[in-house]
Amino acid sequence: MGQNLSRFSVAMPSDLLERFDGLVAKRGTGINRSEVVRDLVRDALDEEDVVVPGAHVMGTLTIVFDHHGSDLQEKLHEIQHKHCESIVASLHIHVDAHTCLEVIVIKGQAELVKVISNQILGTKGVRHGKLVLTTTD
Ligand code: NI
Repeated sequence: MGQNLSRFSVAMPSDLLERFDGLVAKRGTGINRSEVVRDLVRDALDEEDVVVPGAHVMGTLTIVFDHHGSDLQEKLHEIQHKHCESIVASLHIHVDAHTCLEVIVIKGQAELVKVISNQILGTKGVRHGKLVLTTTD
């Protein structure tokens, strides 16, 4: 990398640093903290770039939930029908007796994709989830 490198120091809780070092170790020998931090920063910046106002994006939302949760499936269904012009596909996987994983593909302006995604993520009973945005422009 023929670039000048700037140094900065980072403060973090020791347990977080321990976990981070575990991640660094998994990347292989010869990989150091700085390289992993650079990768993480690049990933974060890429994600930011994708949400330029008005940009058309494809969002892939992955959620995990317990299908026994009170009328949760119904609520998730309702949100998806309400936004059927934006939601282009969904994939439902029955992970075990209780757990479901769903991948929902949302297409449209970044702002709307995020709004729909947050509605789904904010539905009571959705245990966790993550939205990944990709530009199509
Ligand atoms: Ni299921």
